[in-house]
Amino acid sequence: MIVPHRNELTPVGERFALYRAPEPAVTASFADDVRSGLTAPRKTLPPKYFYDELGSALFEAITLLPEYYLTRAEAAILQRYAPAMIGALDGPIEIVEFGSGSARKSRTLIGAALDVQARVTYHPIDISPSALVACATALVGEYDRLDVAAYASDYVEVLASARLSTSKRVLALFLGSNVGNYEPREACALLRAMSAAFKPGDGLLLGADLKKDAATLELAYNDPTGVTAAFDKNVLGRINRELDGHFDLDAFAHVARYEAVRGRIESRLIAQRGMTVPIDALRLDVRLFTAESIHTESSYKFDDDDIARLAADSGFRVARRWSDDDQRFAVWLLVIE
Ligand code: AVI
Repeated sequence: MIVPHRNELTPVGERFALYRAPEPAVTASFADDVRSGLTAPRKTLPPKYFYDELGSALFEAITLLPEYYLTRAEAAILQRYAPAMIGALDGPIEIVEFGSGSARKSRTLIGAALDVQARVTYHPIDISPSALVACATALVGEYDRLDVAAYASDYVEVLASARLSTSKRVLALFLGSNVGNYEPREACALLRAMSAAFKPGDGLLLGADLKKDAATLELAYNDPTGVTAAFDKNVLGRINRELDGHFDLDAFAHVARYEAVRGRIESRLIAQRGMTVPIDALRLDVRLFTAESIHTESSYKFDDDDIARLAADSGFRVARRWSDDDQRFAVWLLVIE
């Protein structure tokens, strides 16, 4: 195997090339974001830092929980409608995926595309190089008419640097309700960057969780097994591991509430007692009073109007929509105007 150079798309194996973004920026931004988030009047930590190796494994476990219906509902939609999704654009297509992970969901779409065209190029973009190498190696082994150009980077960097080299009609995937973890203005800016990076007529399959009753939503984000609580607290564990922090994870409770007005689940870690927590690498003492909360994640929920507004504000139009039998989750096809 050739070790890929940074900053360029480098062949790793037959039909598989990898681009790796420079790494130091990631560590620096974690330290900066922890400092600014934990010294703010209302403490907060960005949800992107959940996903170190342990956090990614805990998220995989969440997707298996009976209460977390999102992953299963979306998989059922893709299973049923993949041929229609692929056929909705004038082919042949290339597939770009934002946040590919193990590419479990996208396999259905790759398979459907290979049913109607001789070759397919798949461009997964993910922050984790190890996840990308594992997923791309498995995919090229599985599909002999598939080429993979993978990008280990964050979405904005790949979109802004114009590194994605696509030549055919693009079908981009942004699945798993990942859009819900962005504040509305950030989601709009990200989709605008996507529409600017592709051509008129190219499409984006956007998978998002639907607005529904608070009880169902709150259970999905606060399972009785405690996996989601462990996932949430892992961000404090990561500060302990990477920045020499001294958080006692048992001194926090995980709470998830549905705020219907804003249409979002708000996840928080609540201090169960007053404490001062040193973070050695930052030379910082974090003071928390009893019942003080750290906001760790917002998971926005959507209806058709929300998506129509988001599409219109970011250079897309809504072309199609598919949902599961229980109307819990939907996948929209947005097309660039
Ligand atoms: C990855 N993301 C869409 C998940 C969500 O539903 O917001 C992360 C998650 N947080 C708690 N459970 C799952």
